[in-house]
Amino acid sequence: MKDAIAVFDSGVGGISVLRELVKQMPNEDFLFFGDSLHAPYGTKTTEEVRRLTIEATEKFMEEGAKGVTIACNTATSAAVRVLRERYPHFPIVGIEPALKPAVEHCPGKRVLVLATPVTIREEKFHKLLNRYEEDALVIPLPAPGLMEFVEEGKTHSLELMEYLEKLLDPYKKGKPDEVAGVVLGCTHYPFVADSIQKVLGDSAMIFDGSEGTAREMRRRLDVAGKLNPDKNHKGKVVFTTSSPDPGKLDLMEALYRK
Ligand code: DGL
Repeated sequence: MKDAIAVFDSGVGGISVLRELVKQMPNEDFLFFGDSLHAPYGTKTTEEVRRLTIEATEKFMEEGAKGVTIACNTATSAAVRVLRERYPHFPIVGIEPALKPAVEHCPGKRVLVLATPVTIREEKFHKLLNRYEEDALVIPLPAPGLMEFVEEGKTHSLELMEYLEKLLDPYKKGKPDEVAGVVLGCTHYPFVADSIQKVLGDSAMIFDGSEGTAREMRRRLDVAGKLNPDKNHKGKVVFTTSSPDPGKLDLMEALYRK
C-alpha cells in the first residue's frame, strides 16, 4: 500500500498505538506489521532486535510508506538511533515509556515502570531514568512472560491473574511499597491494563506512551508536508504478520476493535 503510514511491532501489541494513530489521523491509510514469528523481542540480544527492526523499516520504505512508527518500546530502544542516523529525512518515530506524565502526576511518589528486559537494560531507558529520577521514586520492573498472554489472546485468563499477583505483590495498595503510578512500557501491556489495575488497586494511575507517539508521528508528517490533504478520505487499515498461525490476523482485528 503506497503512501501508507507503516506501524511496526514485535507482535500484536503495537495495535494499542495503531488505535491512537487512527484516532488522531482518521484520513490516513495504515499498514500494520507484527513480527510475531520472531516475538518476543524483549528477551533477545540487542543486536538481534536491531537487525529485525532495521529490516522491517527498510522493507516499509521500499514499499513506499510515507513514514514509520516503531510501535514497540523494545525495538525503539535497540534501533531508533541507528535508523534516524541512516535516514535523517524520513519520518521515523519510536515509542518510549511515558515516564514524563507519570512523574508529573505522581510527584515524589513511587512510580513503577513495567517493560521488557531489553528496554530496561538499554542506555535509552537509563537516560530517561536520569532525567526524572529526582521527581519521583521510579522503580523499573522487567516483566518477561507478560507479553505472551496478549500474543496468545489470553488477556482474561486465570494464569494471567496469577502471573500479575506474583509480579506486582510488593506494589499493591496497602503494601509498604504501594505505587501511585504505573507506566506501561511495552505496547502489549495496555491490553491487560484492566487486570493490572485490579491487582494494584484502584488508586494506582496507569500511563502509556501511545498518545504522545501518535502526536509526534502526526507532527513529523506535517513538517514533511506528507499529511493527506483529502480530509474526506476514510483511511484504511491493513494488518500483516510474519506468523504462520492462521488465527493471528483474527486476533489483530479483535484487539483493534477492543
Ligand atoms: N511490544 C514490545 C514493546 O513495546 C515488546 C514485546 C516483546 O517482547 O516482543 O516493548
